[in-house]
Amino acid sequence: MKYIKGVHRHGSETFLIISKDQESLKTKSIIKSATTQKGINSITSEHKGINWYNSQTSKKINAILEKQTKTYIKIRININEDFFNINTNVPYLKLKKYLDLTVKHYIEIWHNYKNQKFAPFHGDLSLVGNVMFNNKDEVLFVDWEQFENNLIMPTGLDPIMTIIENVWYESLRSKKIDKNVFKHVKKLFINLNEAGLLSSFLEKTPAQTALDFIKSNLKIWNGQSFKLPALKIPNEYIKEIDNTIAN
Ligand SMILES: Nc1ncnc2c1ncn2[C@@H]1O[C@H](COP(=O)(O)OP(=O)(O)OP(=O)(O)O)[C@@H](O)[C@H]1O
Ligand SMILES: [Mg+2]
Repeated sequence: MKYIKGVHRHGSETFLIISKDQESLKTKSIIKSATTQKGINSITSEHKGINWYNSQTSKKINAILEKQTKTYIKIRININEDFFNINTNVPYLKLKKYLDLTVKHYIEIWHNYKNQKFAPFHGDLSLVGNVMFNNKDEVLFVDWEQFENNLIMPTGLDPIMTIIENVWYESLRSKKIDKNVFKHVKKLFINLNEAGLLSSFLEKTPAQTALDFIKSNLKIWNGQSFKLPALKIPNEYIKEIDNTIAN
């Protein structure tokens, strides 16, 4: 059974088809296609991103470029069956474990970029959908549509965006963010720094500098940067993250 999950989803100009097993109704593959230049660019980036990811990890994503012409592209991504999306609609402190696992996986995958100022960039490592987990606490990064391999983004920016996104969600949940949230954020930055995966650009005021890099490179998001949670967070929280890290 196949069904169309979305057309031009959030302005991405790509189609998403979910293909399920006839009997078990389990999702077997997702098919992304596009007919516009913007959509074709997104799917081309996704294909490159998955190939890069596969070159760095033993847990591979099986993606097949089924058709590519000047005006049409179609990619089939076979599902990694034991992985699931987590429910992110819970307080930050309940997500701690998953944030730890995400940063740990980033450190494993990006290890070749240790002490490098710039690194390949996923662009949307959101716990809402794009970072998946299994029962063995393994992690899978999916949805590589924003992949940028020209070494223009600072090393460590991806997980920093994940962290900022979750602090923002927390600010929507409670007026006053628990200081243990910032403590945990600091720990994640220390993990990245100790792994040599916090670019020297991000050593001082990392959260503010991360936002500056995003704002100067919005083209990476193919017209979809308006939905980036990291750009929605009020400045006071960015300052608070940077102050916590500095102290
Ligand atoms: N390799 C994979 N293994 C398991 N599940 C996957 C895989 N790739 C994608 N998925 C699932 O399919 C969902 C949609 O895929 P993806 O994130 O790539 O598309 P999207 O463009 O973000 O679509 P959506 O807006 O619906 O999230 C993911 O959130 C995830 O649940
Ligand atoms: Mg997604």
